[in-house]
Amino acid sequence: MKPVGSSVFPFAFALLLSFSWATSAHTHENFLQCLTLGSGNSSTISEVIYTPSNSSYSSVLQFSIQNPRFSTPATPKPLVIVTPSHVSHIQAAINCSRTHGMQVRVRSGGHDYEGLSYVSDVPFVLIDLIDLRSVSVDAKNSTAWVQSGATIGEVYYRIAEKNRTLGFPGGIATTLGVGGHFSGGGYGTMLRKYGLAADNIIDAQLVDVKGRILDRGSMGEDLFWAIRGGGGGSFGIILAWKIKLVHVPSTVTVFTVSRNLEQNATKLVHRWQYVAAKLHEDLFIRVNLTSVNSSQEGKRTIQASFNSLYLGRIDKLLPMMQQSFPELGLMREDCIEKSWIESILYFEGFPSGESLNVLLKRTLLIGAPFKAKSDYVQEPIPELGLEGIWKRFSEKEAESALILLTPYGGRMSEIAESATPFPHRAGTIYKIQYVVYWEEEETAASKRHISWIRRLYSYMAPYVSKSPRGAYVNYRDLDIGTNGKGNTSYRRARIWGNKYFKSNFDRLVHVKTVVDPANFFKNKQSIPPFSSGWKKRGA
Ligand SMILES: Cc1cc2nc3c(=O)[nH]c(=O)nc-3n(C[C@H](O)[C@H](O)[C@H](O)COP(=O)(O)OP(=O)(O)OC[C@H]3O[C@@H](n4cnc5c(N)ncnc54)[C@H](O)[C@@H]3O)c2cc1C
Ligand SMILES: *[C@@H]1O[C@H](CO)[C@@H](O)[C@H](O)[C@H]1NC(C)=O
Ligand SMILES: *[C@@H]1O[C@H](CO)[C@@H](O)[C@H](O)[C@H]1NC(C)=O
Ligand SMILES: *[C@@H]1O[C@H](CO)[C@@H](O)[C@H](O)[C@H]1NC(C)=O
Ligand SMILES: *[C@@H]1O[C@H](CO)[C@@H](O)[C@H](O)[C@H]1NC(C)=O
Ligand SMILES: *[C@@H]1O[C@H](CO)[C@@H](O)[C@H](O)[C@H]1NC(C)=O
Ligand SMILES: *[C@@H]1O[C@H](CO)[C@@H](O)[C@H](O)[C@H]1NC(C)=O
Ligand SMILES: *[C@@H]1O[C@H](CO)[C@@H](O)[C@H](O)[C@H]1NC(C)=O
Ligand SMILES: *[C@@H]1O[C@H](CO)[C@@H](O)[C@H](O)[C@H]1NC(C)=O
Ligand SMILES: *[C@@H]1O[C@H](CO)[C@@H](O)[C@H](O)[C@H]1NC(C)=O
Repeated sequence: MKPVGSSVFPFAFALLLSFSWATSAHTHENFLQCLTLGSGNSSTISEVIYTPSNSSYSSVLQFSIQNPRFSTPATPKPLVIVTPSHVSHIQAAINCSRTHGMQVRVRSGGHDYEGLSYVSDVPFVLIDLIDLRSVSVDAKNSTAWVQSGATIGEVYYRIAEKNRTLGFPGGIATTLGVGGHFSGGGYGTMLRKYGLAADNIIDAQLVDVKGRILDRGSMGEDLFWAIRGGGGGSFGIILAWKIKLVHVPSTVTVFTVSRNLEQNATKLVHRWQYVAAKLHEDLFIRVNLTSVNSSQEGKRTIQASFNSLYLGRIDKLLPMMQQSFPELGLMREDCIEKSWIESILYFEGFPSGESLNVLLKRTLLIGAPFKAKSDYVQEPIPELGLEGIWKRFSEKEAESALILLTPYGGRMSEIAESATPFPHRAGTIYKIQYVVYWEEEETAASKRHISWIRRLYSYMAPYVSKSPRGAYVNYRDLDIGTNGKGNTSYRRARIWGNKYFKSNFDRLVHVKTVVDPANFFKNKQSIPPFSSGWKKRGA
């Protein structure tokens, strides 16, 4: 996803907290005392604790907020931020939060679309894993251990440093934190060949609600299943993942071909739907739809950009395209051969020749607040349906909107729906992501744009998956349902849970009930346990 427009939003730190500081001050003091005195590692933990009186509190908080929609003066702020540099700091933060009744939020890369990793309506502690980000690649065995605070860009960089024909099928945006990203599935340009990031995880280390450090063996296969796609923030704090690296050819090909409405974009997008999921698994072609200025003065048009990675050379790609998708009219001049690691930079929108070091940068270019939603498509949308989308794109709010169509098929349809919590496999031809950005800071602007994307979403209902209408948990969307305040209920959570996980939701609830029955790890869209109250009511 690329930013459309960018503006800098100064961190307004006028109102410290929107809830009552006074009532929680006592708990908060006790909590801090527990951390610094009772943690068993008091010598080092004080260096990683920030309260609002520390001068760097606001910059630490701000650094990983990737959606400025959640960094306004009205956004609730944490009472304490802990940036663990050792696993004992995570254990202490969990043990003390539990003892003193504090809620925690866990943040790795901070990309959560709804800010769930750093916002809460109740007083909370932010555990920010930014300093736990080692990546150790074992090129001989094609594996790596990566800590949660590492970005996927760092992972790609460290792999390429060791061996240019090894890679990993993770996300396109390089600043994503692997803690949240892998927890929700994680897809990128190689999903048709290798599936999701979560499909390529072979071990993990997790700190559970009791402060214990568990690995795959000690956590058991149910919990290991749940953390690979069940969404972050429900089961414990992932400390590190062990991933299986995949083979990538030494030369790959990329292209981006754009066509607007005057250049048959409607027909091409329509046709793409029949082709994209059936192509050879080495070929990935996504579509980026935006509203752009037309060549006719003062008019707007829709632009469809066909954006592709082929795991091979131009000479093999061209005949393949000629056979499967000749309508696009792909020319040799449109294609660029690169190494796989350079293709990562290409998809991130960096200019050709940019140093690979940009993969180590954690700062996202998005300066604008945004709202996004997702859908899954099982039957091609007729041209008339597409034209209705174009119509909505001509509204003023859509100036900085985009729709991304990501093809499935290949490996994605071979993996069973229940193999991981991520259920959108065979039968899905592509995923839609809708995003709208805006520039203005005031709430009226955000209301207008959010209302636009909701109208578009309701327009799309007849064309997308139904009963349940699917959604991608990594594209967190609180519109589809939330847990209530206080105790969460299974019945209520099932509304959004079935959309993200289909029938896997019940197994997630079952795992949650075993590993965190008191629901310590909770947020607006965390997996609820079956509460004893719920069982008693005999439902
Ligand atoms: C600009 C942008 C581009 C994106 N591109 C892609 C893409 O190409 N492919 C794709 O699949 N997705 C993409 N996403 C979505 C992304 O995968 C999710 O937002 C993902 O959850 C981000 O992980 P994070 O660690 O950066 O986020 P965070 O906000 O830190 O975490 C997300 C969730 O996971 C929880 N969590 C974080 N760390 C841990 C941990 N260590 N243990 C337990 N829970 C944890 C958080 O509490 C939160 O609920 C994109 C998002 C953005 C904003
Ligand atoms: C989509 O296309 C628009 C307009 O060409 C461009 O600005 C944007 O960067 C593209 N986004 C992605 C994710 O490819
Ligand atoms: C924050 O301030 C307290 C009190 O001044 C201090 O003890 C602590 O070390 C500071 N934390 C950091 C991370 O600087
Ligand atoms: C305390 O933290 C330091 C690093 O900050 C680490 O080296 C040490 O092993 C930790 N001690 C315990 C008891 O966990
Ligand atoms: C947290 O609690 C667990 C046991 O539940 C214990 O093993 C661990 O040492 C504790 N850690 C700290 C830092 O308090
Ligand atoms: C690499 O794999 C082999 C065989 O599976 C194993 O014996 C060895 O310990 C592994 N090496 C490392 C460093 O994990
Ligand atoms: C690099 O990885 C490939 C597998 O993709 C392997 O065949 C090759 O031997 C490795 N090269 C080196 C130098 O380790
Ligand atoms: C649009 O498609 C028609 C055939 O359907 C073709 O004749 C025409 O050349 C195409 N236009 C462009 C600009 O590609
Ligand atoms: C699009 O057109 C408007 C006026 O019609 C102009 O203000 C704007 O700069 C143009 N945008 C681009 C990207 O050319
Ligand atoms: C939540 O449930 C527990 C026991 O199941 C009960 O003690 C508590 O009062 C409930 N809290 C709320 C806010 O309903």
